[in-house]
Amino acid sequence: MVNDIQSASQLDHRADPQRKAGVLGNCPDPRDLLAMSPKLDLDVLDRLHNCSILSAAQFDLPLMQELSKLAACLQLRKFPAGHALDDKIMAAAFFEPSTRTRLSFESAMLHVGGKTMSVADAKTTGVAKGESMRDIGQMFNSYADIVVVRHTQQQALQQLTEYMRVPLINGGNGSDEHPTQALADWYALMKWRPELAFGTLPEQFRLTIGIIGTPGNMRTVKSFLTLALLFHRNINHITIFSEMADPLGTELRALTNASPITIDFSRNLKQSLEYLDVIYMNAIAFLGDGYRFFGDEFSLSSQSQLKTDTVILHPLARGDELGTCLDDTDHNLYFNQADGAVWLRQALLLAIFGRVRNIVPRELIK
Ligand code: CP
Repeated sequence: MVNDIQSASQLDHRADPQRKAGVLGNCPDPRDLLAMSPKLDLDVLDRLHNCSILSAAQFDLPLMQELSKLAACLQLRKFPAGHALDDKIMAAAFFEPSTRTRLSFESAMLHVGGKTMSVADAKTTGVAKGESMRDIGQMFNSYADIVVVRHTQQQALQQLTEYMRVPLINGGNGSDEHPTQALADWYALMKWRPELAFGTLPEQFRLTIGIIGTPGNMRTVKSFLTLALLFHRNINHITIFSEMADPLGTELRALTNASPITIDFSRNLKQSLEYLDVIYMNAIAFLGDGYRFFGDEFSLSSQSQLKTDTVILHPLARGDELGTCLDDTDHNLYFNQADGAVWLRQALLLAIFGRVRNIVPRELIK
């Protein structure tokens, strides 16, 4: 499984124009990821059977590897999966606005034959009449086989689980977590640099990552950082750019203190650009009763002095912090990140429903 990458030529992943099938920006090839480890370890994926996904902390590196490989197989259409979840219904209950998460989960479910029901606006549910989340959870058991929920309140998911018997996926709960976004983030990065997950890079090729935002109270940033710590073999350094005095908070500080990755803080993005291989940015956070903008002064545009091969991730929606002038450059991995979420979420749904063994041909099983 572990490959020692000794030659710089093996690290050359310049974008191939042939691969740019309709998505602007950098489109790494899923085949590169599978080339590192072509067979699937289904015992690892079995660990997700019937599981709810509430936090990024539920994942370890083998699970990330196998989920991403399954997503790559689905993206490359290596075997038919279009009827794998024919008998399953997914409810996507979004009590807070979303473009990508809700639609990509619906698209994922439809790709594998499942059916979907959506709540796109809390005002159309019993919440408008004061109905409790625990009662709504009870209804989900009768109407769906799996439920994806987004809510403005961190504690809403916990309340839902009180009565729920079907798996629940956290589609973003207040300022807490967005675990499947982080899985999609790392799927994009693993396609871009498969050695990250399957090899041990020589010291000089290990990554320096810049995170713009406040992991302690921004859900995508928190979940991204939590998963980043799993790649400590190949990440040397993470710098967090935030205007907050304590961007991590107690829980994340304990996690990062235990990691071998050097983590520091800065307010000077410009000065650091020449070192950053990956920049993860996000400025919008839902806090309390509305949206706040954190870190929108740390903006990037085509004028920014980025390294030639730096890639930018952004969970979107964006504000002025990320210039559209970067969209048609190889720095743009953010559209591929959103595009790949459909495949990664298919892989996750198949694993939760225990249907991976039904579709993967024997020659692709480890
Ligand atoms: N990445 C993300 O959570 O986007 P949406 O808010 O559009 O779902």
